[in-house]
Amino acid sequence: MRAIRVTRLDGPGAMEMAEIDEPVGDGVVVDVYAAGAAFPDALLTRGRYQYRPEPPFVLGAEIAGVVRSAPEDAHVRAGDRVVGLTMLTGGMAEVALLSPDRVFKLPDNVSFEAGAGLLFNDLTVYFALSVRGRLQRGETVLVHGAAGGIGTSALRLAPVLGASRTIAVVSTEEKAAIATAAGATDVVLAEGFKDAVKELTGGRGVDVVVDPVGGDRFTDSLRSLAPAGRLLVIGFTGGEIPTVKVNRLLLNNIDVVGVGWGAWAGTHPGALSEQWAALERLLSSGELPPPEPVVYPLERAGAAVASLENRTAKGKVVLRVRD
Ligand SMILES: NC(=O)c1ccc[n+]([C@@H]2O[C@H](COP(=O)([O-])OP(=O)(O)OC[C@H]3O[C@@H](n4cnc5c(N)ncnc54)[C@H](OP(=O)(O)O)[C@@H]3O)[C@@H](O)[C@H]2O)c1
Repeated sequence: MRAIRVTRLDGPGAMEMAEIDEPVGDGVVVDVYAAGAAFPDALLTRGRYQYRPEPPFVLGAEIAGVVRSAPEDAHVRAGDRVVGLTMLTGGMAEVALLSPDRVFKLPDNVSFEAGAGLLFNDLTVYFALSVRGRLQRGETVLVHGAAGGIGTSALRLAPVLGASRTIAVVSTEEKAAIATAAGATDVVLAEGFKDAVKELTGGRGVDVVVDPVGGDRFTDSLRSLAPAGRLLVIGFTGGEIPTVKVNRLLLNNIDVVGVGWGAWAGTHPGALSEQWAALERLLSSGELPPPEPVVYPLERAGAAVASLENRTAKGKVVLRVRD
């Protein structure tokens, strides 16, 4: 089969297409039609993610496709359209082998390409907003990195989970258009976002901040929270891991909340399937629009992952593996 391999930890430029054997073992075998690309893939190509597989390895954490075979007691069977998580490698290939508890039936109204782009981010954001962020009906949500994978997912999900307003933070006007298309109520530029948010909210601030970026904007995010607001720590694409002066939490009764979706799934059996059941209902009913990813052919996987690393990606990035 064709697969995208990392053979040395030199970044996305060193990713290569290879002809390798199909995976064998117990589990669900899926003919992959599309595979998601996410920021952790870029980190994996440099050995900078918390999980560090030894090269050579096949990249790819999430897929959509058709089940070729499944164990008798699995909840899916041959012919089912599915999405699945590899946790965290093996997805950018024509065939993937997945644990049955990480494979989910894809609603008929969602394409393979949209499906490959929704699992990783939507499950994380659903967990972040509903469990860790305790989002309440009518609240306002500020979203950093709003034209990225986690960002566009937060813009799609927050209103469905009760938010009455979403304020997107992006670095360029071009990315503002992506955030608007993903459903943002308002869009502001990263430069000077604190003052813009203050003005938009009449000085009150926002109830929840979704933060996959971290870095030097963190303190201004804390300053943008209304009393009893929650800042959800999701990632550090900005590079620097911020520190919190805890007097800020006391002064304004605000929370900084960690969101480790993978760690939660690993320690809470059944959490993934519960999260998926909730998402699946929202997708099938049409309440939650599927993502509209930027699609690259499999042979351009290196460029796709590089666009995440060099900050040029506009929306969720997905690879078309077969037609
Ligand atoms: N905690 C969890 O459970 C969990 C789960 C999934 C993902 N994550 C993490 O969430 C983060 C976002 O992932 P993603 O797939 O959404 O990434 P993405 O699609 O690349 O989006 C990240 C956004 O970060 C912003 N950014 C700011 N500084 C950047 C820089 N120096 N380089 C690149 N981007 C920069 C960019 O927006 P602007 O240009 O508009 O600023 C970009 O759109 C990653 O750190 C990932 O590991 C965490």
